[in-house]
Amino acid sequence: MKKDLLSEYDLELEDYECIFEKARRLKRLLREGREHATLKGKTLGMIFDKSSTRTRISFEVGMYQMGGIALFLSNRDTQLGRGEIIADSARIMSRYLDGIMIRTFSQAAVEEFARYATIPVINGLTDLLHPCQILSDLFTIIEKRGGYSGLKIAYIGDGNNMANSWINAAAKLPFHLDLACPEGYDPDPAILKRGMAEAPAGVGLHRDPKIAVGDADIVYTDVWVSMGQEGERKERMKRFQGYQVNQALLERAKKDALVMHCLPAHRGEEITAEVIDGPRSVVIDEAENRLHVQKAIMEILL
Ligand code: CP
Ligand code: NVA
Repeated sequence: MKKDLLSEYDLELEDYECIFEKARRLKRLLREGREHATLKGKTLGMIFDKSSTRTRISFEVGMYQMGGIALFLSNRDTQLGRGEIIADSARIMSRYLDGIMIRTFSQAAVEEFARYATIPVINGLTDLLHPCQILSDLFTIIEKRGGYSGLKIAYIGDGNNMANSWINAAAKLPFHLDLACPEGYDPDPAILKRGMAEAPAGVGLHRDPKIAVGDADIVYTDVWVSMGQEGERKERMKRFQGYQVNQALLERAKKDALVMHCLPAHRGEEITAEVIDGPRSVVIDEAENRLHVQKAIMEILL
């Protein structure tokens, strides 16, 4: 695997397989209460410019379970938050730490950090991508469905970081992805273009969620207002009407379709309570898998 995990494009097919294999093993060891302190004495810095529940806890607990420690570095408290340049921060942090996880706004900032850092850098979400989440989502699909090969995944809603990450994964892996986004809220155009050109099983973009969801094996959605977009809330609530994942929409998917969401969810907005809390939803297992998958990523990179 490459030094960093900044984008799904950092992963080759065998890297995906290696991560899933390790995650399976680490999950089993944890379940059986067996020790797996493979990162004894290692340290992970976690830079957060945005809020987090799952990412912070799963990285921190994962590091602890593997015998290392994780440091929570909020931009409110580090000099990075006061304008110390990325190049200096990355080079200096590389002298103290064994790895860095960054959650911030700009993908370019994470890439710049990784260029200067001599230790592995893991993208814990940017405005553009959320690779750790997509890996956990795929791992969850493998657990529930035995694999993702030949499946149809429907992504309904905002063409945001999750949509972009789904497209990047579809560019390499053999599942079909159909997205439905309202006009003006499409995924990143460069990512979409490359995904459509490279995806072995195809990527489609639609306006009508009913078309995207038709016969889907997985119905995926995410919030209509991502972190940093709070000022657009009113406009977005209007523009996303008709893109809610509700029972009527779900009925167009396969009978045994799974419902997924990276969380946090807004019941009554992008998804109804009936669906996210219903029998087809796997969102809690999906969230749990962040822990196992990120432990696998850290075991490999650190
Ligand atoms: N899905 C996800 O990344 O959750 P958090 O924002 O809580 O980390
Ligand atoms: N699209 C959401 C994902 C949160 C995990 C956001 O960026 O806020």
